[in-house]
Amino acid sequence: MKPTTSPKTYRVKSFGCQMNVYDGERMAEMLGEQGIVPAPEGEDADLVVLNTCHIREKAAEKVYSDIGRLTKGKTQTKAPMIAVAGCVAQAEGEEIMRRSPAVSMVVGPQAYHRLPEMLEKAVKGERATDTDMPAIAKFAALPERRRTNPASFLTVQEGCDKFCTYCVVPYTRGAEISRPYADLVTEAKKLVDAGAKEITLLGQNVSAWSGEDGKGHQVGLAGLIRDLAKVDGLARIRYTTSHPADMDDDLIAAHGEIDKLMPFLHLPVQAGSDRVLKAMNRSHTAESYLKLLDRFRAARPDLALSGDFIVGFPGETDVEFEETLALVDEVKYAQAFSFKYSPRPGTPAATMDGQVAKDVMDERLRRLQDALNRDQLAFNEASVGRTCEVLVERKGKHPGQWLGKSPWLQSVWFEGDAQIGDLVEVELVEAGPNSLAGTLRETALSAA
Ligand code: SAH
Ligand code: SF4
Ligand code: F3S
Repeated sequence: MKPTTSPKTYRVKSFGCQMNVYDGERMAEMLGEQGIVPAPEGEDADLVVLNTCHIREKAAEKVYSDIGRLTKGKTQTKAPMIAVAGCVAQAEGEEIMRRSPAVSMVVGPQAYHRLPEMLEKAVKGERATDTDMPAIAKFAALPERRRTNPASFLTVQEGCDKFCTYCVVPYTRGAEISRPYADLVTEAKKLVDAGAKEITLLGQNVSAWSGEDGKGHQVGLAGLIRDLAKVDGLARIRYTTSHPADMDDDLIAAHGEIDKLMPFLHLPVQAGSDRVLKAMNRSHTAESYLKLLDRFRAARPDLALSGDFIVGFPGETDVEFEETLALVDEVKYAQAFSFKYSPRPGTPAATMDGQVAKDVMDERLRRLQDALNRDQLAFNEASVGRTCEVLVERKGKHPGQWLGKSPWLQSVWFEGDAQIGDLVEVELVEAGPNSLAGTLRETALSAA
C-alpha cells in the first residue's frame, strides 16, 4: 500500500450485538484522542471502521459487500482508509487481508486498543493485522469515557466458555473474563457524569460475572448491580445476555429488591426440545428453563421476558419444532429474536448429520415468528392504561414527538414538553406490535 496522509475524519459502523456497539463507541473515543473527528452526516470519512459480526453467514458476508461498496465509490465519493474490526476480523483476519487489498487494518475485538499504533503503520503504507486476545489489557489501555447516551452500555464480562455447538462466540471473543469491580464502578460513574441515566451491563454470558467488591468480598452480578444502584443519578440498570445455567438465587432476589433494576429479563432458550437442547450443548432442559422463569416471576411478577430461538438446528424434526412452539405458548414472551440455523465454520454443529432444508427452516421461522409477534402484541396491549416512567432517548419522526423506553423495554412515543435524557411519566394509551403511543403526564422527574 502507498503511504498516505493521516485521516482527519472517521466513521465507525457497528454490526451484531450490543457488545459490538460498546466496542464501536470505545474505538470512536480512541480515534477522538488521536484528534480524528466524526465525519459529518452525509460526508465522506477519511477512515471507515467496519465493526463486524460473525454470528450467522449473512452477517459475516456483509463485510465483503461493504468493502466493495466503499472502494467502488458507492458509499462515498472518495475511497477511505478501511479498518475491519469485530468478530469477522477475529475469525477471518488473514482471509480478509488476502481477499480485500483495500483493507489496511484488521483488528480483533480484544485488541482494538492498539488501533492507534496500527493507524500509524497504515499511514506509512504498511498493512497490519492484530487478533491477539489480551482482553483485560484492552480495557486498561482505553481512554476515559466521555461520550454517552441516556441509555448506555457497559461491558462487564468478555468471552464465553459455554461452547454451544452452533456458536462462534467462544472462538471470536475468547474465554470468559470478568472486568474488575472497581473499574466497572468507575466507568459507570463516568457514564453517569457524561449524561447516562440507564446502564445495560453487557457480556455474552453476563451472569457469569464475578469479582471482589470494595470490602474484599467475592460477589456475583447481583452484588455488582446492588452497588451500582447506589450511584447517584443512575436511574435504571439492565443486563444482557444471561445463560440459564448461571442464574443464581441472589440475582433472582435482586429483581424483587432493587428498584433501579428494570423488570426485564433476556434469557435465551434456543429450542423447546430436550434432545435438540442437548445436541446444542445447552445445559438446560425445557422444564428447568420454565422452572427458572417461575422463580424470576415470583420475585418480580411484572417481569417482561425475552428470548432467542434457533429453528432448523441439524436433526430438528417437525415434532421437536412443535415443542419450541409449545414452550413459546407457555412463556408468553414480551419480545424475542428468532433465527434460522446458520452453519458456522469450525463449530461442531456445522458438520452434524441432518442439516435441515432451507424451505423447512423458512416455514418453521414463519410459524415461530407469528407466535412471537402475537405474544408481543398481547403484552403491549396488556400495558395500555398503565402509567409508567419513560426514558427519552431520541426525537420522534414528527416535530414535538419523542421516543423512549418503558421499564419493560417497550418503545414508547409521545408528544409534549421533554428533552433527550428526561425521565417522564407517560400513560400508555395505544399498543402496536413494536411500539406504544403514550400521553405525557408530568415532567417533574427529569431532574432524577
Ligand atoms: N450469549 C448469548 C447470545 C449469543 S448470539 C446467548 O447465549 O444467548 C445471539 C443469538 O444468536 C443466540 O442466542 C442464538 O439464538 C443466535 N445464534 C448463534 N449462533 C447461531 C447460528 N449459528 N445460527 C443461527 N443463530 C445463531
Ligand atoms: Fe454462544 Fe452459547 Fe456462549 Fe451464548 S452461551 S455466546 S450462544 S456459546
Ligand atoms: Fe456477532 Fe461477535 Fe456479537 S459474532 S453477535 S458481534 S460477539
